[in-house]
Amino acid sequence: MMKIMLVAGARPNFMKIAPLVRALENQQGESEDLAWSLVHTGQHYDTEMSKAFFDDLGIPEPHYHLGIGSGSHAEQTARTMVAFEKICLLERPDVVVVVGDVNSTLACAITAKKLLIKVAHVEAGLRSGDMTMPEEINRIVADALSDYLFVTESSGIHNLSREGRSDSSVHYVGNVMIDTLFFQLERLEKIGTTPRVRELRERYRSPYAVVTLHRPSNVDERASLSGILKALIDIGRDMPVLFPVHPRTRKNIDRFGLEPPAGANVALLPPLPYMEFLALWKDAALVLTDSGGIQEETTALGIPCFTIRENTERPVTIAEGTNSLVGTTFGTIMAAYGQFKKGISKRGSVPFLWDGKAAERIVSDLRNTLP
Ligand code: UD1
Repeated sequence: MMKIMLVAGARPNFMKIAPLVRALENQQGESEDLAWSLVHTGQHYDTEMSKAFFDDLGIPEPHYHLGIGSGSHAEQTARTMVAFEKICLLERPDVVVVVGDVNSTLACAITAKKLLIKVAHVEAGLRSGDMTMPEEINRIVADALSDYLFVTESSGIHNLSREGRSDSSVHYVGNVMIDTLFFQLERLEKIGTTPRVRELRERYRSPYAVVTLHRPSNVDERASLSGILKALIDIGRDMPVLFPVHPRTRKNIDRFGLEPPAGANVALLPPLPYMEFLALWKDAALVLTDSGGIQEETTALGIPCFTIRENTERPVTIAEGTNSLVGTTFGTIMAAYGQFKKGISKRGSVPFLWDGKAAERIVSDLRNTLP
């Protein structure tokens, strides 16, 4: 019996896990020797950051919930390792599959490897070159330990090869995040959106912009956050700006007293479940974000994306897609927006193998190569 254990911890993990669960269920039909389990570390725990995503994406109830919660990086990572070790000892999986670059990814990769369990990293090889990003540290460590490196774009292959990883451990499979996007887009067309989004779309007619913001470097300091919000207020003079606010950002807007004034055309919304957010951004004229995944999703649908960062670990979205790095200050964001207003925006193409079948490839690769 081959036992595969999936790990998810934070919001951006859930859309990467959903297609893997589907692929495992599909391929289980072909083989009685395949068993899988799902562990939720509980890094994200609010209903709107976690349960809403499980429901929307049809992810089954996890077999184990570790209830880790928030804390400093060391606290969160350490608590996850202690709790996850117990599950690994109980279940003894053949491989632990971690996705993305959050603290849960790092913690579970280290724990499994030290128990001599094979580790597979989905979304391996991405590098921003910015060691002040906690995610960069998580990516480097998870990749260094992984036996299977499932890569989404060609930069990943080059980075891993430069770091001395053997070709045989690197598998270019495409992008599980895009598996979810295509799958849910089709569902959205069938079932339609919610009254809340219909009401928002009535009130804020096209063209509109959609924003997400949560990187500590953008939202934890008053000066940075206030400059970005000022840019959003200015863009709001041309078109409505719809902004579902991450809990980290919400706390900082409140702490610094930066709520946009009543007349501003910037709508601060609660964090939205996957399908409601998709129903908004898929028709946006422009997306502004500091997220990793949204850079890829906008490229897959050909929507102009301004990434409010100095660097990206996803260079294919710039080279081939619709993404632009616009910096993090009022001046740099408005300079890019000035170009956009003149009608200068990128036309992109969809990167190789971002075709909705990455998770099937991953499960097949594991089945074909695990001893
Ligand atoms: C984490 C990931 C980041 C990812 C982001 C997506 C790391 C290092 N960071 O950042 O890579 O892009 O998730 O959301 O793993 N909070 C709540 N409710 C929740 C979760 C968090 O209120 O359900 C609040 C807590 O005050 C917490 C803060 O948000 O301290 C930050 O949460 P945390 O998981 O530490 O990091 P994120 O900023 O969400």
